Amino acid sequence: MTQNPTVKPFLEVLSGRRQPVPPLWMMRQAGRYLPEYREVRAKAGGFLDLCFTPEFAAEVTLQPIRRFNFDAAIIFSDILVIPYALGRSVRFEAGEGPRLDPLDTPDKVGTLAARADFSKLELVFEALRRVRRELDPKIALIGFCGAPWTVATYMVAGHGTPDQAPARMMAYRHPEAFTKIIDTIVENSIQYLLGQLKAGADVLQIFDTWAGVLPPREFQRWSVEPTKRIVEGVRKQVPDAKIIGFPRGAGALLPSYVEATGVNAVSIDWATEPSLIRERVQNRVAVQGNLDPLVLIAGGAALDRSIDDVLSNYAAGRLIFNLGHGIQPETPIAHVEQMVRRVRAYKG
Ligand code: CP3
Repeated sequence: MTQNPTVKPFLEVLSGRRQPVPPLWMMRQAGRYLPEYREVRAKAGGFLDLCFTPEFAAEVTLQPIRRFNFDAAIIFSDILVIPYALGRSVRFEAGEGPRLDPLDTPDKVGTLAARADFSKLELVFEALRRVRRELDPKIALIGFCGAPWTVATYMVAGHGTPDQAPARMMAYRHPEAFTKIIDTIVENSIQYLLGQLKAGADVLQIFDTWAGVLPPREFQRWSVEPTKRIVEGVRKQVPDAKIIGFPRGAGALLPSYVEATGVNAVSIDWATEPSLIRERVQNRVAVQGNLDPLVLIAGGAALDRSIDDVLSNYAAGRLIFNLGHGIQPETPIAHVEQMVRRVRAYKG
């Protein structure tokens, strides 16, 4: 056996080498379902204080690794640190989600800063360096940002919305102003991701949580094109940068997203059609996903069955086992343990 102990199974999959047991992590793996997270969160005060205190951010990043021995750690932060660093007001109200100053008229967009204050984001880079120092070398470290479309939906509306109507309307009515928002996020996200790579991230994920509400033409313009520019901008400086895209809800548009953006992997939600993914996505890139977060709450036989479905659908190819979206706060820890045991027992 000549196993190199510093090989990261997670990165192997992204480099095109399927692993016999799929590497495993969970979106939002640091969070309220963990008592140790709630403890640090209470000490930090506000949510943004948690993100911008490197000691605390590093600690909560490592908590799920210690508990579950996942194959990847994701730096604890939020996609809304970019609007925050652009000088927008960003607050997280308990139980209500994010609140921003709405950027919903061309006049207001005229006042948008071109460049983020990177001294604020330096605290995220410091958290990454801390995690890197403590992390087992076999475990990958993920940096991330929000895709411009998804970040813009919060900036325009000023809060989360069920259908992202304010951003969709602005894109139709004021395409120039909306383009300025998107371009600003693109440029700053490139610099932010490069900073994360420099601080020790092995791989980057671009979260486009609200991609699925766009008609195909708008999807191309506001999700695919800006993501492609971010991927190109990062690779101009770091040609072999590994990048995972997550255009949630993209469904049958996934093959064209993968082809156009040049990502190394896509994260897929639980509703995606398996044969389309196998034949038109997994034949090109690695796939990450796609357990329904609700079945992880339900547990029992339904959980076992759903885990087996993900494995039988995708584990014959390049797979990173994950959820189809973030873990929810009410998820029992025992069910996460059940999932980890079952995935790791896979014999493929
Ligand atoms: O995955 C991880 O463990 C890393 C941390 C992470 C957070 N947010 C921490 C967080 C990541 C990768 C994100 C991404 C994020 N943030 C997305 C895209 C991914 C997704 O889940 O769709 C979006 C849309 C946001 C914006 C955001 N941040 C919302 C809508 C909310 C409120 C909803 C909620 O779950 O409370 C947040 C707050 C937030 N970000 C929390 C965490 C752990 C909960 C805040 C708390 O602890 O009080």
